[in-house]
Amino acid sequence: MKKSAVFVLFGSTGDLALKKLLPSLYSLHCQGELGDDFKIVAVGRREFDHKDFVDFIQQSVAANSRYVCDYRFISFSERISYFKMDFQLEEDYQSLSTSLLSDSLLQSGELPLIFYMATAPDFFRDITQGLAGAGFFERLKNPKRLVLEKPFGHDLASASEFNAIFSKYFTEEEIFRTDHYLGKEMVQNILSMRFANPIFEKIWNSEFIDNIQITVFETEGIGSRGGYYDSTGALRDMVQSHLLQILSLLAMERPSDLEIESLRDRKVEVIKNIKLEKVDSHQDIVFGQYVANQELGLKGYLDEEKVGAESSTETFAALKLTVDSPRWRGVPFFLRTGKRCGKRLAYVVVEFSESGSSLFPSEDLSNLLVIKIQPDEGIYLQLRAKSLGSSSQVIPVSLDYSAACSVSGRGVEAYERILSDAIDANHQLFTRWDEIESSWKFIDNVGQICGCGICLDDYQAGTPGPEAAARLIGDSNRSWREII
Ligand SMILES: NC(=O)c1ccc[n+]([C@@H]2O[C@H](COP(=O)([O-])OP(=O)(O)OC[C@H]3O[C@@H](n4cnc5c(N)ncnc54)[C@H](OP(=O)(O)O)[C@@H]3O)[C@@H](O)[C@H]2O)c1
Repeated sequence: MKKSAVFVLFGSTGDLALKKLLPSLYSLHCQGELGDDFKIVAVGRREFDHKDFVDFIQQSVAANSRYVCDYRFISFSERISYFKMDFQLEEDYQSLSTSLLSDSLLQSGELPLIFYMATAPDFFRDITQGLAGAGFFERLKNPKRLVLEKPFGHDLASASEFNAIFSKYFTEEEIFRTDHYLGKEMVQNILSMRFANPIFEKIWNSEFIDNIQITVFETEGIGSRGGYYDSTGALRDMVQSHLLQILSLLAMERPSDLEIESLRDRKVEVIKNIKLEKVDSHQDIVFGQYVANQELGLKGYLDEEKVGAESSTETFAALKLTVDSPRWRGVPFFLRTGKRCGKRLAYVVVEFSESGSSLFPSEDLSNLLVIKIQPDEGIYLQLRAKSLGSSSQVIPVSLDYSAACSVSGRGVEAYERILSDAIDANHQLFTRWDEIESSWKFIDNVGQICGCGICLDDYQAGTPGPEAAARLIGDSNRSWREII
């Protein structure tokens, strides 16, 4: 069925809207998924009329969509109306309310109204309260939804405060908290791989798995987001959301079915059971900050725009965690993420144990299951096989499934799935409040430990993090599995 809605995009001139949301909506349009009654209200503070706005977004849509920006862009642009407002002006909420409530598409009372918050997080609250102050929610007869970008708060207290405000006007069913990593093909594949393959299901535990590693590296620094990033850091920006979500999918118990709430229940169980073992000595946490790399012409974090001259914000975090459950007793989960880490890479490595003495001894050739999330998407299993011509020497071989090669054309953008699901009111790729609450509890706890004197290790911009991250994993005679 074609999608029908009035889609209100707050922050329609921002980076996320231009690079991801509008191009993804355009892809849905080109695929014929949007019905005649799907309309986009683009909210921004700039002086644009309809034509200016359409001209303004066209280049970004062309550069970032999976589809050529051709004659179809004309019919796409006809779906859009631009609404100028300033989030800080009370009177603008009155005008927006009046404009939305008089929209002919909403008159039947059936078409859903979707608010997508692609703005700085503090505006999520201001916009909700601004609309409430204008009496909008009392007058609206239509089904409504609220889609919130990450980050959801910056600690447990702020997240709880936000949630209390949204909950006044929206039910949990109407709130969609995004974590765009959940929309990535290979992150979704974690569940299929685990629960569709009996060979993995039986060995997915501490008896057979030695350790699990999650790496998310970014090439970029902080760009123009210094103001936001300097008060956030890698732990709160990346670990609290993407890395803990991936961990929860890897470590969850088998759900009773694939219903969304069953999956969410299982994910929450994991997040509640995540522990740091060596709390006092800080041995399980490494924080780093990138410094200038003259050779590569990259500046250091402290020289970035809007960053305090003596900032101690971490741009890299590595953690050794455990999941307190019979399945995972004694299995370390190593997580690392950072900015300016040389390459844009996200992947998971599940390293299997060396059980008993092998008839074919070989060093450092453990069986590995690698899930490549980005930029390449795929899965491979590293096995040992006999070297050609030799009777007993074994070498690593891999059974490789590369998703990028097996589907024609460019892969579906994570944001296409997220938008598509939000429009269809499907919660699968969105986090429930108790997932956010438990992850902030854990992160606040780590934050407190770090606040009591963790040192910040330097790493050169363009390299994969500080030396200390190698020590974090090396202490137990393991090493980071570097996947290219
Ligand atoms: N960018 C990404 O790739 C990305 C990825 C994941 C999550 N997110 C999240 O998505 C959200 C948006 O990020 P972003 O990078 O797109 O931010 P951004 O580029 O700074 O865009 C913010 C938007 O809000 C508008 N705005 C700011 N103040 C306003 C005001 N007083 N009245 C009306 N409009 C106002 C801006 O308008 P102007 O254009 O006129 O300034 C712009 O459209 C954030 O919560 C971020 O954490 C972003």
